[in-house]
Amino acid sequence: MAATLMEGRPLAERIRGEVAAEVVGLGGIGLATVLVGDDPASEIYIGRKHEAAAAAGIDARDVRLPPSTTEDELLRLVGELNADDAVDALLVQLPLPAHIDPDRLARAVDPAKDVDGFHPENAGELYLGRPRLVPATAVGIMALLAEHRILLTGARAVVVGRSAIVGKPVAHLLLQANATVTVCHSRTEDLARHTLDADVLVVAVGDAEVVTADMVKTGSVVVDVGMNRTENGLVGDVDPDAADVAAFITPVPGGVGPMTIACLLQNAVRCARLRRSGTY
Ligand code: GUN
Repeated sequence: MAATLMEGRPLAERIRGEVAAEVVGLGGIGLATVLVGDDPASEIYIGRKHEAAAAAGIDARDVRLPPSTTEDELLRLVGELNADDAVDALLVQLPLPAHIDPDRLARAVDPAKDVDGFHPENAGELYLGRPRLVPATAVGIMALLAEHRILLTGARAVVVGRSAIVGKPVAHLLLQANATVTVCHSRTEDLARHTLDADVLVVAVGDAEVVTADMVKTGSVVVDVGMNRTENGLVGDVDPDAADVAAFITPVPGGVGPMTIACLLQNAVRCARLRRSGTY
């Protein structure tokens, strides 16, 4: 293995420590999460968010609703949490049951409390180059790249995946960092032609080891956002053999995953500051 591992845990730990200090400075902050249904992966993610929030001294409310919850009931609850002054930051865990429209939900969350950065107003500010509340995974990826002093100005960055949660926001942040950005997706022809050109390659498609070592440019930087449960355990979107080719690579697990949670808490602090300073 030639590549330097970009470990997420030590940096995430540092960020969580900074968040804890800021929470004390703010006299405490409040986070509310809403989980509809009983998706086992979502239950694990929500559990981790609450563990991390509690460790940082954040007052976190864990609202659980049955899968039969109607869209109107959920919208009413979000309205109540929007109006609740003890709640600085609010998120509704995805995926939602099929009968609930995630876009309507994203619009219903007060943009100032939108800790996930999914509200169209926050997505729009990011698109316009004025990032305010940005999805935590994208923020975490940029923090990992900065930590390892990865040069982005003028670099060719290729993002594989165009989700609103990771692919699109990270593409915008890379563009704002003056990289030349290409976004690839399920309809891209000859994916390897693009990935082989990437100085910085971010893969966020949720498909086990779709990017193989022969698709990675020698000496490049590879960020693997994938967390796929397979019969061989948890694997990323990138074949670990890519570490023989790349100069830097994130491990799975222990790379981007811990950064997402740390940056979510950082966003919660940002929500509290924005609301309390009235700059929103
Ligand atoms: N489901 C998968 N990732 C996320 C996320 O970042 N936020 C929320 N709310 N749900 C998710």
